[in-house]
Amino acid sequence: MNTVRSPHHRSFFSPGACRRAVAALALSLAPGTGAATPATVIAIDLNQPGKAISADLFGIFFEDINYAADGGLYAELIQNRSFEYQATEQSTWNSLTMWELVTRGDGKGAFIAEAADPVHPDNPHYAVLHVSQPGAGVGLMNAGFDGIAIKAGERYDVSLFAKQLYVGARWGAVPATPEIKPGALLVRLESQTGENLGEALVNWPATDWTRLTATITANRTDEAARFVVLSTIKGGLALDVISLFPQKTFRGRGNGLRADLAQVLADMKPRFIRFPGGCVAHGNGLGNMYRWKDTIGPIEQRKEQANLWHHHQTVGLGYFEYFQFCEDIGAKPLPVVPAGVCCQNSGQTNGAGQRGLPLEQMPDYIQEVLDLIEYANGPATSTWGAKRAAAGHTEPFHLEYLGVGNEDHITPVFQKRFQMIHDAVKAKHPEITVIGTVGPSPAGPDFEAGWKIADEQNVAMVDEHYYEKPEWFLNNLHRYDGYDRAKSKIYLGEYAAHDDGRKMTLRSALAEAAYMTHLERNGDLVRLASYAPLLARIGHTQWNPDLVYFTNTEIFPTINYQVQRLFGVNSGDTWLTAMVSDPAQAADFAVSSVRDSRTGDLILKLVNAGAAAKPLHIEIDGARELPAHAVTTVLAGDDPMAVNDFANPQTVLPQTASIAVGPSFDYEAPAHSLTVIRIQHR
Ligand code: AHR
Repeated sequence: MNTVRSPHHRSFFSPGACRRAVAALALSLAPGTGAATPATVIAIDLNQPGKAISADLFGIFFEDINYAADGGLYAELIQNRSFEYQATEQSTWNSLTMWELVTRGDGKGAFIAEAADPVHPDNPHYAVLHVSQPGAGVGLMNAGFDGIAIKAGERYDVSLFAKQLYVGARWGAVPATPEIKPGALLVRLESQTGENLGEALVNWPATDWTRLTATITANRTDEAARFVVLSTIKGGLALDVISLFPQKTFRGRGNGLRADLAQVLADMKPRFIRFPGGCVAHGNGLGNMYRWKDTIGPIEQRKEQANLWHHHQTVGLGYFEYFQFCEDIGAKPLPVVPAGVCCQNSGQTNGAGQRGLPLEQMPDYIQEVLDLIEYANGPATSTWGAKRAAAGHTEPFHLEYLGVGNEDHITPVFQKRFQMIHDAVKAKHPEITVIGTVGPSPAGPDFEAGWKIADEQNVAMVDEHYYEKPEWFLNNLHRYDGYDRAKSKIYLGEYAAHDDGRKMTLRSALAEAAYMTHLERNGDLVRLASYAPLLARIGHTQWNPDLVYFTNTEIFPTINYQVQRLFGVNSGDTWLTAMVSDPAQAADFAVSSVRDSRTGDLILKLVNAGAAAKPLHIEIDGARELPAHAVTTVLAGDDPMAVNDFANPQTVLPQTASIAVGPSFDYEAPAHSLTVIRIQHR
C-alpha cells in the first residue's frame, strides 16, 4: 500500500524564482487597499522543464444509476418498450407496466403478456392485444418516462415488432386477407386529453414477427405527450419492442443519445468515459453481472435485465453505443468488466454477498473479456471485429484502458479470478492498460489488500474510490505527493465531496476543485480521474449528489459540474511548479499551473475556498512573449452553501472577463472561488 510520506513536493523549484517571489512578497500589497495586507505571491518560471502529466487526466464516469441510461442519455421515448419489466426490479412492476389499454368509440378489447415464441429468446415477453370490437380503434398507450416531450415540426421514428395471431372472432378465426393489410394499425402521439399531435399508418403484420416502421411529425410542442398504437381490425395481435426515437439524436445517430444531455457531457471535454459502472458493472448476483455481449446487436436481440439501482436496463445503450459516443466526443473508452465476482452488496434474492463465477466457467469468462478487446480493436475480418463492422463501424475503437472489477471486497474468491483475468489480458494484449480495484474507500482493509495485489501482480493501474466531506478533500491536498512512483498508476475512478444533506454546494465544488489541482500536480502518477455519479433524473434519483440533474426538457448542471468542465476544458499535459509565498500554505487555497502543448497556453487555476478575497501577485519568468491580456473564468459566490438547484439553477455560474497580464501582474481571487487564467504563450 502507498502511504503519504512527504508534503507537497517541490522538485522543480528554482532558487532564482524563489528569490524573486520573496522579493515580490515584500513589495506587494493588496490591490486597491493601500493597506498592509500582503498579497500572496505566485511565481512561475517558464524555463523550468516542467513535469509531463497525463493528457487523459479528467474524464467522466457513466453509470446507469438514477435513470441515467433508460429515461436519460439513451434517447428512447417509450418506457418498457420490450415488456420486460419485472417485480424483482420494483415490487409493483410486471411485463405490462407503463402500458394501458385504450379503446376508442365503441371499441372493445384486452391485452395480456405472453412468452411463447417471442421475437428472440433473449427478449422473452411481449404483449398480445385482443380486439373483439374495433370501434374507432383499440390499442396500447405508453406515457414514456414521466410523459413524452415532443417539439412541433420535429420528426419521430416509430418501430415495432408485430405478429398477426388471428383475424375475426378469437375462436375459429381466419387468417388476414390481403385487402385489410394497409393502414390497419395507427401510431399516434397524443396530448394528455387525447388531442392528435401527429400520426402515421402502419401495415398489418404477417403471421410471423414483422418489423414495422413509420415516422410521425409532431404538429405541436408538448412536454408530456403519450404514444398510442391502435388496431382497427377485429382480431389478435402480438406486439413487442415498440420504440419511438426523435430523429434529432446526438450526431443524428440511429438508436442514439438524447442530444441536449449528450452535449452537456461533450462540453466537459472529457478525455475518457468510464462505463457501464459502478456497481452496475459487477451486478446484483452472478446472474446480474453486466455481460457486454448481451448488449450489442439489434435491440430486439439484446438481453435486458434488472438494474441493481431498482430500475431496468434495456441495454439499448450498450457497448457499441458507448464506444460510439466516446468516439463522437473525442473521449477514450474505459469499460469496466466484472472481475468474475458480483457486488458484495448483492441482495438476498440473488444470493447474499459477493460470489465468484465457478472456476470451471472462468475460461469462458476470460475469453469473453478477450473478445471485448477484439470487438473494440480487432480487424473487421476477426470474429468480434466483424460484429463491430456489422453495426456500422469498420474501423477500430482504439481501446487502451480496461477496468477489471469495481471496488470489490478483496477476498480470496476475488483475488483468484482477478489474477486469472489480469494475467490473460496482459499476456494476449500487453498494449492494454489493465486497471485493478482497491475497494470503496481511501483507506482500510480492502484498500490495503487491493494495493497488495497490485504490488504483487504489478498491476498497471488501480482504481481508487472515495466519497468524503469537503473538509476531507481540503485536508488531503497532498495525498498523492508521497505515493511511490514505481508502483501502480492511479485512476481515481469515483470521488465526490459530500456536503451536509448531500447537497451540491459551492463549498463542495471548491473542495473538489482544490483537490483537482492536486491531481494535476500528481498527474505523472494519477493518470485518470472521474467524479461520480454523473447523471440523475429528477424524481428517480437513488443517489445524491450527482453532477447533472435533468427532466425530459430541462438540464440542471450543478456547480460541481462547472468545476469539472473548467478543468476539462483547461487541462494541460505539462505541470509547472508555481511557487506560492504564503508560508501557511492555507488548506483553503490551492494553485495549479499547467501548459497545454497543443496551444502552448499557460493555464493557471486558483482555488480560494476561504471567506475572504485573496490578493495575489503573479510573476511569470522566462516567457518569450506574453500577451497584454488573458481570459479569466471565475466561478464564485458569496454563500459557500449556495447550490444551483431547480428553483435557482444559475446561482453560481462561470463568468469570463479579460484581465491585464504580463511578466508581473496582480489579481484578486474572490472569496469562495475558482479562477482559471488562460494566458496565450506560443
Ligand atoms: O457512484 C455510485 C456508486 O458508488 C457506484 O455504483 C459504486 O461503485 C460506488 O459505491
